[in-house]
Amino acid sequence: MHPTRPARQFRAPGRLNIIGEHVDYCGGLVLPAAIDRGCTVSAACNDDQMLRVTSPFGKAELGWRSFSRSGDWRDYVGGMAFVLARELGPGARKGLDISIASDVPVGAGLSSSAALELGIALALWHHWSKAPPDRHLLVQLANEVENVFVGAPCGVMDQYASAFGRAGHALLVDCAAMDHTDVPLPQEAAFVIIDTGVRHTNATSAYGERRRDCETATARLGAASLRDIADGQGLAALSVLDGNPARRARHVVSEIGRTRAAVQALLAADLSALGALMNQSHASLRDDMEVSCPELDRVQAIAVATPGVLGARMMGGGFGGTVIALAHRQDAARAGADAARAWARETGTDHGFHVCTASDGARACPA
Ligand code: GLA
Repeated sequence: MHPTRPARQFRAPGRLNIIGEHVDYCGGLVLPAAIDRGCTVSAACNDDQMLRVTSPFGKAELGWRSFSRSGDWRDYVGGMAFVLARELGPGARKGLDISIASDVPVGAGLSSSAALELGIALALWHHWSKAPPDRHLLVQLANEVENVFVGAPCGVMDQYASAFGRAGHALLVDCAAMDHTDVPLPQEAAFVIIDTGVRHTNATSAYGERRRDCETATARLGAASLRDIADGQGLAALSVLDGNPARRARHVVSEIGRTRAAVQALLAADLSALGALMNQSHASLRDDMEVSCPELDRVQAIAVATPGVLGARMMGGGFGGTVIALAHRQDAARAGADAARAWARETGTDHGFHVCTASDGARACPA
């Protein structure tokens, strides 16, 4: 038996992304929101120099002075502990008894991993530092954990949204400046997530290839980033490119433009305009970025054909996962149920749907 003290609880949400897909790693603009599903982490000091962790995926005992890769969920927790201890500098670190629970479905494109990273990060910070948490630092560290310790070459969008989400708002995140503006969501707008139920195994390597294509395009253009092209000459600059780099860059530059337009549509409460932009985003992700798959294309088509849906697109990294659809609030639950049922009729399995509420970012739960 290990003596434990009272536990403190922390909660970090998953995220949806309205628009701005596959642009975060090009310094682009993204428009995510934290959602009402998340990861809850309870942590209490123990008298040992280690983290005793209980999670839905299993139990582990982890340290923070070194890191060795396990290839599973432990890398998120152990990686976060290692980078945070490094960043907070030398000093006495307490061991903790940690328990993790999450209602973000894994692999569905709702960023269950960012929720886990931020939940753990806040819990460790609370016990290891007297200073208020530096959220920008936590986003950077969580992204390092993904890239270096887990080996997923993702951008910063998911961690950023989980850290900075605000109820009733989307975040316009500038991934070059690493800052954001809150964008109020119109009362009548609702976002419905429809899970394809499909997870393709090539997702991580294909994601990395897309990043490299974008880097090739950037180098050939002699630019610092595709964001600079989007802010400068725009699509016209891309005529010197060909092949995959040309298509990827066309997606990135056009998607950054659509993200700006989407903010204007939200501010004007013009949901038809926003829906049209989401449909265009899907076409660009399918044809130029080539990160969709037949199942995502089919669910997107089902969604846009469902009465009450104003637009839809694949969401997240792609190659499976979820579709996000826009509807008027009063239509959202029925439209989601209709679309999910139509997809279930084709596949024989009902993967359900979820009407999301834009929520606050990672936080300590009231004591
Ligand atoms: C995944 C990554 C994000 C982002 C999206 C695509 O969710 O984790 O950083 O690149 O794909 O927009």
